[in-house]
Amino acid sequence: MGPECVISHRREESEITVSDIKIFEINIKMLTTNMKQLIINHIPLKIHVKEGVFDMKIVVLDGYTENPGDLSWEGLKDLGELTVYDRTPVGDAGEIIKRIGDAQAVFTNKTPLTKEVFEACGHIRFVGVLATGYNVVDCDAASARGIPVCNIPSYGTDAVAQYTIALLLEICHHIGHHSQAVREGRWESCPDWCFWDYPLIELAGKTMGIIGFGRIGQGTARIAQALGMKVLAYDAYRNEALENENCRYADLDELYRMSDVIALHCPLFPDTAGMINRDSIAKMKDGVIILNDSRGPLIVEEDLKEALNSGKVGAAGLDVVSTEPIRGDNPLLQARNCFITPHIAWAPRESRQRLMDIAVSNLKSFMDGSPVNVVNKQVTGK
Ligand SMILES: NC(=O)c1ccc[n+]([C@@H]2O[C@H](COP(=O)([O-])OP(=O)(O)OC[C@H]3O[C@@H](n4cnc5c(N)ncnc54)[C@H](O)[C@@H]3O)[C@@H](O)[C@H]2O)c1
Repeated sequence: MGPECVISHRREESEITVSDIKIFEINIKMLTTNMKQLIINHIPLKIHVKEGVFDMKIVVLDGYTENPGDLSWEGLKDLGELTVYDRTPVGDAGEIIKRIGDAQAVFTNKTPLTKEVFEACGHIRFVGVLATGYNVVDCDAASARGIPVCNIPSYGTDAVAQYTIALLLEICHHIGHHSQAVREGRWESCPDWCFWDYPLIELAGKTMGIIGFGRIGQGTARIAQALGMKVLAYDAYRNEALENENCRYADLDELYRMSDVIALHCPLFPDTAGMINRDSIAKMKDGVIILNDSRGPLIVEEDLKEALNSGKVGAAGLDVVSTEPIRGDNPLLQARNCFITPHIAWAPRESRQRLMDIAVSNLKSFMDGSPVNVVNKQVTGK
């Protein structure tokens, strides 16, 4: 059987036998590069990767934030010929296309994979997103080519919930500030046995309103209740089983009216963009604390700045802003009592390791013919 037979006589994976693969392996040695490529495009990836006929080319376009050096890429290396770029310029489609080249598996975190990229990189068979959000990938363009786009649906729930409370505790105690003040000699020279520069806040008995009661929202609620807080939850879908004596659903107006602390944990959708604005803030308690480690555009930043500077909002803890990295002219940089961190809630090593493990298993599952975590489900029909 010549190689041409292999190409023209394409069968379902389940019909391919080990002896077919052996014949294929022998024949492959006789082929030109172009012929090999033709086969790559026509036989199931599982066969040519698993059986070692080809090394699959895998490109990670922007691996640095996921693995700045404290994790290992070995899991992906085991699956093929791996190239990892720390960063790829997001606005340079030409460079993105060049770096993908003839790779079959492409991983991206924030590097856009546009229709133009899919058109130019005809060898792509799999896209892995090193994050939960996959808006950087043109899924329609991927689907049109039958390419599954696989994301990491949940890897950092506990870390992000913990971070929400970390933002809140910083606002309640200003630990960083007071530690710095001690180092600067202010305690040593203090006429009293203690001092504090901000009002300190006890949380027990206060109410936390959580907008978006999914995985992270529920995780935050558990910790808030452990601190003695009551929780009001708002979600587009209710699950009454999550309610208890200290946690119940409320509509948005009640949540705004009753909450001492409001935490945003809903996704960014057209109907949630800008939901924290002048009007919604007016419905809130004076001195309310607003926390956002979901997505920056949920908040109209100019309105929050005004409310912080007037004292209507007591403090804000934000891990996300409208444009990231933050721009120098972001109004929140001019706001009082506004704590901004550089989108790090997801990033403890434990979460990133989990993310890495799931990214590897996503590619493995695809190679085994049963892709998981596929966001463009029309490709798999599941
Ligand atoms: N800062 C970080 O590092 C970081 C990391 C991971 C996730 N996130 C953000 O956290 C968000 C929540 O993540 P998750 O894992 O809890 O997601 P999830 O899907 O489990 O929960 C989201 C919840 O929001 C609800 N929702 C949808 N539309 C809504 C609306 N219009 N109003 C109110 N609720 C609505 C959903 O029903 C769901 O219960 C993500 O969308 C992401 O933006 C941030």
